[in-house]
Amino acid sequence: MGGVYNAVQRVQYTGPDKSAKAKTRVTPHTGKVGLHTYVDDGTRIMRSVIEMPSMHQKGAIHPTEKPVGLLEVLVRTSCPPGGLVGDWFAGSGAAGEACGLVGVDYVGCEIEAEMAARARQRLVGSLFGQMALA
Ligand SMILES: C[S@@+](CC[C@H](N)C(=O)[O-])C[C@H]1O[C@@H](n2cnc3c(N)ncnc32)[C@H](O)[C@@H]1O
Repeated sequence: MGGVYNAVQRVQYTGPDKSAKAKTRVTPHTGKVGLHTYVDDGTRIMRSVIEMPSMHQKGAIHPTEKPVGLLEVLVRTSCPPGGLVGDWFAGSGAAGEACGLVGVDYVGCEIEAEMAARARQRLVGSLFGQMALA
């Protein structure tokens, strides 16, 4: 579990080493967080802030719709080949389209019936209309 699954562009990082030291913290909103570490190998996956144009001028069907290009990067770096993405707050289904581009399976849930129908329609109408929809 965990890790980066696909060969995505990594860039050299010249800032301070951010390797975590083992420590235990207590914060009011998360409670006690146990010992944790990670090793900074001096590179980053692209940038920690990925700038993308908003979807508002691009025919968004949901008020907080994410760009597919952004979600594609996230899916590529966090889902293993042949994996399955569970999107429990699917909104427009943009993540489903990203999964289609990457070639991994996708399950989306959306509580708003009208939005669920629009997301479903979007995914059926996309390049990946072969996907099984329940
Ligand atoms: C921030 S939006 C997701 C936007 C989505 N990532 C996109 O790019 O279009 C969160 C969505 O979660 C849905 N939602 C909220 N509670 C839910 C629940 N309990 N089960 C399923 N969907 C839920 C909302 O209706 C809303 O459409």
